[in-house]
Amino acid sequence: MKKFALSLFVLISVIFLVACQGDDEKIPVSGEASDGVQEMKIKFAHVVAENTPKHKGALKMKEYIEKESGGKIEVEIYPNSSLFGDQDEYQNLVANNIQFIAPDLTKFVGNNPQFNVPALPFMFDDDDEAIAFWDGEKGKEVLASLKNDGVIGLSMWPNGGKHLTNGKRPISSPEDLKGLKFRTQGGQVLESIYHALGAGSESIPFGELYTALDQGVVDGQENTFSNIESKKFDEVQKYMTVMNHTRVDYAVFTNTKFWDSMNEATKKIVEDGLAAGTEVARAEAKSLNDKALETIKERGNVEIVELTPEQVEEFRKVLEPIYKEYEEEIGADVIEAAREAAK
Ligand code: LMR
Repeated sequence: MKKFALSLFVLISVIFLVACQGDDEKIPVSGEASDGVQEMKIKFAHVVAENTPKHKGALKMKEYIEKESGGKIEVEIYPNSSLFGDQDEYQNLVANNIQFIAPDLTKFVGNNPQFNVPALPFMFDDDDEAIAFWDGEKGKEVLASLKNDGVIGLSMWPNGGKHLTNGKRPISSPEDLKGLKFRTQGGQVLESIYHALGAGSESIPFGELYTALDQGVVDGQENTFSNIESKKFDEVQKYMTVMNHTRVDYAVFTNTKFWDSMNEATKKIVEDGLAAGTEVARAEAKSLNDKALETIKERGNVEIVELTPEQVEEFRKVLEPIYKEYEEEIGADVIEAAREAAK
């Protein structure tokens, strides 16, 4: 009887260990002595194309980490929502099925409304101003705000200013948007922008946007030149207005389960790799957007409207009340810090 009980105990323990191992396979674990570089596979998933600042930054990270770890750390990058998309990348990061994502911050306003900062109309003129905010004290506080989910915002990567495209008519004044429906990345501020302009809006995952535009689910959308060009949205749109009214900015997020599993030597390589990726993403964002605009012009699919300063002013005036509307939710201190960074 005793023997039987012992065998049963051993059997149950083995089953338990095997079950745990299945889960642990997802967690990069050390294959080395505790002070050596750990052997692991890191997955970085994102939703955009390869010719974008986000993918270039991720590639640099991969190159640096794989080289400096002597191949002990392998980095797999999944672009184009090929592993996870807007709908499921966050849950999979939390579950440590992936170790890095770099989403558009306005997609996180459900977790913290302060991620609405890139959607505040005409807040930042360029990448440098946005970087100054996210690298500053308030920006860092906002990036650190997902810690209850076990998620850490490590570094801001810019993409750039957003511009309007649509399939119905040229847009050069607020009235031109009336009755149209636009896709947004998500969030209350973007919704309010379209509401203030007399238009409707709907949040649609990036991976479904081309089809949504093609099938007329929405009339238009707002995005950076590099996203418009690399995803060929101009094939299914007729007009583009150069607006720079809101931005696409990312943060590289990781999860604490993975982050805390690294020893010092390993973490140093990963952190330095992230710094190298940040440098590339920040350095390339503007030139990739400039090149993308040229390509869109060359393709000639969309009629391009360049607003005069007076026309920009008209939009600014209509959208100004949004600042008061969201002051409490986003925080006057956060808005003030963004304004400081934008000077
Ligand atoms: C979008 O959903 O339009 C963009 O935010 C995608 C991205 O990651 O740049």
